[in-house]
Amino acid sequence: MTGTPTPQVEHDKPLSLVLVGGSGDLAQKKILPALFSLFSQRLLPPQIRFYGFARTPMTDDEFRRKAMEHLTCRYVPGENCAQWMDRFLARCHYQAGQYDSADSFLDLFRRMKDFEKTADVNRLFYLAIPPSVFLDVARALADAGLVTCGPGRGWSRVVMEKPFGRDRASSDEMARDLAHVFSERQIYRIDHYLGKELVQNLLVLRFANIVFEPLWSREFIRGVDICWKEDIGIGSRGGYYDGIGVIRDVMQNHLLQILSLLAMERPAAVDARAVRDEKVKVLRAMPPLRQADLVLGQYTGVERNGRRQPGYLEEPGVAPDSVTPTCAAAVLRVENDRWRGVPFFMRAGKGLDGRLAEIRVRFRPVPANPFAQLMPVLPENDLIIRVQPDEAINLRIINKAPGLALRLEETALDLRYHAAFKDIIPDAYECLLLDAIRGDKSLFIRADELAAAWDIFTPVLHETEGRRVRPEPYPFGSAGPAATRELAAREGIECE
Ligand code: NDP
Ligand code: BG6
Repeated sequence: MTGTPTPQVEHDKPLSLVLVGGSGDLAQKKILPALFSLFSQRLLPPQIRFYGFARTPMTDDEFRRKAMEHLTCRYVPGENCAQWMDRFLARCHYQAGQYDSADSFLDLFRRMKDFEKTADVNRLFYLAIPPSVFLDVARALADAGLVTCGPGRGWSRVVMEKPFGRDRASSDEMARDLAHVFSERQIYRIDHYLGKELVQNLLVLRFANIVFEPLWSREFIRGVDICWKEDIGIGSRGGYYDGIGVIRDVMQNHLLQILSLLAMERPAAVDARAVRDEKVKVLRAMPPLRQADLVLGQYTGVERNGRRQPGYLEEPGVAPDSVTPTCAAAVLRVENDRWRGVPFFMRAGKGLDGRLAEIRVRFRPVPANPFAQLMPVLPENDLIIRVQPDEAINLRIINKAPGLALRLEETALDLRYHAAFKDIIPDAYECLLLDAIRGDKSLFIRADELAAAWDIFTPVLHETEGRRVRPEPYPFGSAGPAATRELAAREGIECE
């Protein structure tokens, strides 16, 4: 999505794409469907092979059948789709093995050799596994001789899923250990929210229009809300989620990335380096979150339509006395000239009353109201950017209601993507996988960005976890902990 020339896919070279954790939720539900979408649009090199790798025993055919369940015909509707699926699945293979075993990866290597045939082959390793096994995999890949680079050889890249570590220290340690296998150039730390259409649009909206930037500061903005909620619980992901919690799962990465794009200065160019330089500056201007500015919650079980919806503590894989938060609200600050005094109110939670990811920029009231007789208090303008579902940009304004009389009414300039554009909105993973294959790192997290992000959340994570602070219970499907509204009220924010 950068303004400078984007690196291109090398269509003339073979590409082996290894999906480590190929049996898992992410691989099956997101990565393989995204690869199919790219493949069916002819965006991938024709000489490509996909290799699933995980511990679960499976044959190639079983892997293909499992993968097929989630492929969609979005880009190739009609009869063509089945042919494209056959072509795609014929390129999918599976190797069972242990994550810490070079021998297992040598078995994989032997299978890859059947196809690669030349040393000049590109390799992409996608780690769709819990971070606890990243290092084992990296070492085993290196010991098996799969990570190659240099003259006459193709590139090797690794895509890693968040969370990268548990705190600043463990993240640094992981970075040091990974550096023995992969250089920073080869590492693509993915945050799939950066691939979402409306998140990518933030820079365009801010810097390609004259109307927003002059108002984009403490002088005209009184607060920014970033709200993320899901109406589902953690389901089968208890083993991953417990001990991780909502701050590490969503806030420290997805929502903080959104915040940095909203708050950063204009980059010198829209390229990987300049954009990430500006994001780092914003993150470094943010003081660590204080416990007084944080609310934690945990969902409890409810009866729904005669069925019991389990509470967090009843979910499989969760410790019965767990204090892991499933919901949090935080007031974050950016201590620079542009933003000093403006609260960035971040809310995120599972098991809430809907599914939404939305940014709300709240403008200050007009300094004088010439319409006081008609409307004594003019509602303030809000710019609402709905990331999902139903992508939209909505500017709430005061307008004259049509008619002979002068009557004021709050209304909205409303850009709804599904009505305004006929193009298919790509899934975030389609965009990011293509970028990783092209070698465009603009939408991936740089090491210094990651460190700065951890610095904001590490002290409060240590404090709350060290003292085993018990999150406030909230019923599944509700609006979340009551304390969130108190925190919002303290900052003068009306909580919706
Ligand atoms: P899964 O729990 O499905 O794990 C993926 C695979 O890893 C499993 O199929 C399993 O394969 C193996 N695995 C699971 N637990 C362990 C363990 N404790 N030790 C070793 N191997 C294990 O996770 P997801 O696919 O949901 O997530 C993978 C990564 O992607 C995580 O880092 C997550 O944060 C991230 N992510 C996930 C998203 C999603 O939508 N699911 C979205 C964004 C990020 P096997 O037993 O066959 O070896
Ligand atoms: C992942 C989190 O990073 O993002 C999940 O681990 C969350 O807990 C998911 O559900 C949300 O992604 P999306 O694209 O469905 O909003």
